[in-house]
Amino acid sequence: MAGCKRAFAIFAVAVHLCLAVSSSSSLDNTDPRNGRTAYHFQPATNRMNGPLYHKGVYHLFYQYNPHGPLWDIGNLSWGHSVSRDLVNWAALPTVIDPTSPFDNNGCWSGSATVLPCGIPAILYTGISASKVQVQNVAFPKNASDPLLREWDKTGLNPVMPLPAEVPANKFRDPSTAWIGKDGLWRVAVSGEVNGVGSTLVYKSKNFLHWDRNPAPLHASRAAGMVECPDLFPVAEHRDAGLDTLVTGPGVKHVLKLSVMDTLEDYYMVGTYDETTDAFVPTEPGRGDDYRNWRRFNYGHVYASKSFFDAGKSRRVLWTWINESDSRDDDVARGWSGIQAFPRKVWLDKDGKQLLQWPVEEIETLRRKRVGLRDGTWLRTGALKEIAGVTALQADVEAVFEIPSLEGAETFDPSWETDAQKLCGVKGATVHGGVGPFGLIVMVSGYMKEHTAIFFRVFKHHDNYKVLMCTDLTSSSTKSGVYKPPYGGFVEMDDIQKHKTINLRTLLDHSVIESFGDGGRTCITTRLYPEHVSKRDSHIFVFNNGTGAVKVSKLEAWNLATAAVNVGDGNMM
Ligand SMILES: *[C@@H]1O[C@H](CO)[C@@H](O)[C@H](O)[C@H]1NC(C)=O
Ligand SMILES: *[C@@H]1O[C@H](CO)[C@@H](O)[C@H](O)[C@H]1NC(C)=O
Ligand SMILES: *[C@@H]1O[C@H](CO)[C@@H](O)[C@H](O)[C@H]1NC(C)=O
Ligand SMILES: *[C@@H]1O[C@H](CO)[C@@H](O)[C@H](O)[C@H]1NC(C)=O
Repeated sequence: MAGCKRAFAIFAVAVHLCLAVSSSSSLDNTDPRNGRTAYHFQPATNRMNGPLYHKGVYHLFYQYNPHGPLWDIGNLSWGHSVSRDLVNWAALPTVIDPTSPFDNNGCWSGSATVLPCGIPAILYTGISASKVQVQNVAFPKNASDPLLREWDKTGLNPVMPLPAEVPANKFRDPSTAWIGKDGLWRVAVSGEVNGVGSTLVYKSKNFLHWDRNPAPLHASRAAGMVECPDLFPVAEHRDAGLDTLVTGPGVKHVLKLSVMDTLEDYYMVGTYDETTDAFVPTEPGRGDDYRNWRRFNYGHVYASKSFFDAGKSRRVLWTWINESDSRDDDVARGWSGIQAFPRKVWLDKDGKQLLQWPVEEIETLRRKRVGLRDGTWLRTGALKEIAGVTALQADVEAVFEIPSLEGAETFDPSWETDAQKLCGVKGATVHGGVGPFGLIVMVSGYMKEHTAIFFRVFKHHDNYKVLMCTDLTSSSTKSGVYKPPYGGFVEMDDIQKHKTINLRTLLDHSVIESFGDGGRTCITTRLYPEHVSKRDSHIFVFNNGTGAVKVSKLEAWNLATAAVNVGDGNMM
């Protein structure tokens, strides 16, 4: 089983065992001593369904198996949680259950769209009675209910039956829909057409009767089956988000695809042609193979999905973080799968890459602040503790100034294609010219467990190349855990002029999210340090480069625990 399907299966296990284990486990399964996060969205969730903002309420719909036994994915429903601030969440009953002939083998991923009349609609993949993937529609039973608690499937389902050239198990994940100048709705759906991984476009007048365009939005033989397509507009030269409907001057489009081969999310900025419903990438040099496209994230992440937040005029990205320890561990803990903290996403001024930053609401969780004196020098071998902060639940912002790039090591072009490998070869203990410098976090008493998040600068022709890594190799003494070094390059062309790199890191017991250079490169990891059970964890800044680095600013905050799915909708 591959890709999203596998993710489902693992999720089903965790939910089932959550019920079975919670009473007998020695630690309560909500106890942070077993690594449970304090402000990340849980319960067990995996692929994103349809995030939605509607009448002042954020909705998160997610795959949920309320009663399924081990490995049964047929009982998948749509779980539902609501929030007014993207931080605190209330759990509501499921909204779509596998009870109809067009979905009774599982209600899989899909998306929500707000129709111009203000009524939201859900498009989702159903696994039919004959185990065929089809697309279905549902509407709220009572559109005036601000929490959209109950939904009705239409009698016309499936509204998109399986096309003849598509295998029964390769047709899924309808995107949020958008409307063209001709007044017709469009939606992107993943399908493998005659062996080619394609993003199909369907059109409709009324959201009920859909016709498939002969040509796909995008297709690539090189990449195999793709999933969870997300097509959204971004503004040039502004960080404001745009509704999925917007096209025209000053607007570019982003196509994001989840590639089953690699279990990674890739995106490309490009142009969406409304007359042909085709997406043309801005950087054709990156070719047809999605594995050469840009990465949303490095780390344990997949199946991200964005939505337009009309309340704050921004586009918000949700990303699923999977587990990377054993199934037995998931069982013992009683949960698995989590969402990365929601991020605002917008187009960089270079017109090619996206920037991501935790939504500002996270600041409502900030409590005690600590820092380092501005202008603290880090010479070769320096290691300074950021004391006084709860190191398992913190938000750290640092700005590193590099007075001289003179000593930067020369970049070997063969490193270009594998940043992750380079992070392994040139880890935090391997001294360089400029770097490695950065943070070491989740550090246990004698440094037996620690995770380094660091930068290294290389000289490359007349310019510089910046590598960013999160090295999990020493993150945990536990065995049977997948803990590679993760990393990517940071595409910044002004390092020569500004000579600074900033780093923001969110720490939450078993999750680390890092944002390099204002969110150009993001590394999101799940880790299982044994020392979290003792709650004794530390954070340091370090420099193992020959050249000195100045910390021009460093602030760290304790983060409070959010109310994530405790209580019911009444808190709303
Ligand atoms: C699905 O859930 C129902 C409860 O609604 C349960 O009776 C049934 O055994 C489950 N099916 C499978 C295959 O797990
Ligand atoms: C629909 O929701 C509104 C707002 O909660 C409520 O006042 C109304 O009674 C509901 N209508 C029905 C038919 O349940
Ligand atoms: C979890 O994520 C990692 C990193 O992307 C990947 O290698 C692994 O296969 C994923 N595991 C599952 C079960 O999806
Ligand atoms: C810096 O390098 C030294 C020597 O290689 C090593 O002992 C130390 O752990 C390194 N610091 C970090 C933070 O990895």
